[in-house]
Amino acid sequence: MKMWFWSILAGMGAIGVAAGAGQDLVASRAVPPPQLPKNKKLTPFELGKLIYYTDEFVGRDGKNCAACHESKLPLRRDALAKRKKELPKQIQWCLATRVKNEEIQPGTPEFDGIMEYIYTVYGLHAVVDEDPKVDRLMNLGAELFADGDFEGAKTYLERALPQLQSKYHIAQTHVMLGIVFHVLAEPEMAKDHFRMAVETDPTIDVDASLFSPKTVELFYSVKRKIVAGQTEEFR
Ligand code: HEC
Repeated sequence: MKMWFWSILAGMGAIGVAAGAGQDLVASRAVPPPQLPKNKKLTPFELGKLIYYTDEFVGRDGKNCAACHESKLPLRRDALAKRKKELPKQIQWCLATRVKNEEIQPGTPEFDGIMEYIYTVYGLHAVVDEDPKVDRLMNLGAELFADGDFEGAKTYLERALPQLQSKYHIAQTHVMLGIVFHVLAEPEMAKDHFRMAVETDPTIDVDASLFSPKTVELFYSVKRKIVAGQTEEFR
């Protein structure tokens, strides 16, 4: 059941979820370092990638991440996944002692960017890091969802939601709840959940082959509105 749960979520197509997506991104890392774009609001991923590859951006005479981790000390997904909880500490250590930049601290956009870059490239969003109890609630919810017991699914997913830690799981659970509410003919609740899913993870998608066209259309109408609203803000 566990496998099924995460594989159906992977089917929803968030970036870097399926092992395959992660692999592609890893393979494409050998591209030349990115250029600093002018007058453009960077996404956390883009900011993280810049810091990872260029020392000009970090503005110190230390090395950039790629100098070590794209040559002698390659990062490996399985090792990173096992130590997911310790990664912020490890990256802080690299920043302070290797890159020699102590200003990039957890909580800054730069630090969040580096985390987002590593999480996306190595598919770490999909690594389950939840409390086993919460994980059980999620699995029960997903099981009932698959059986078509939407009231039951709603009960478990709503209980799991406030206890979830990772943005990845929060976004996916909002999508499932949105679908549940849509099926239960509560479109306003469905829209609220879709909105929260997209706000938590703007890259989130639903697999059009798994759900009804009406549900998929509702999801994308909400997503388009939010994405359009965000572009408006940055002007
Ligand atoms: C001068 C070389 C150097 C630079 C520059 C450097 N690191 Fe590291 N990094 C290391 C070493 C050495 C380790 C420890 C390897 C180990 O524990 O196996 C490490 C470990 C890590 C790990 C944990 C790897 C694992 O498998 O557990 C991560 C993640 C990491 N670095 C990210 C970064 C990031 C992000 C940057 C840039 C902000 C960076 N590093 C810059 C040398 C470097």
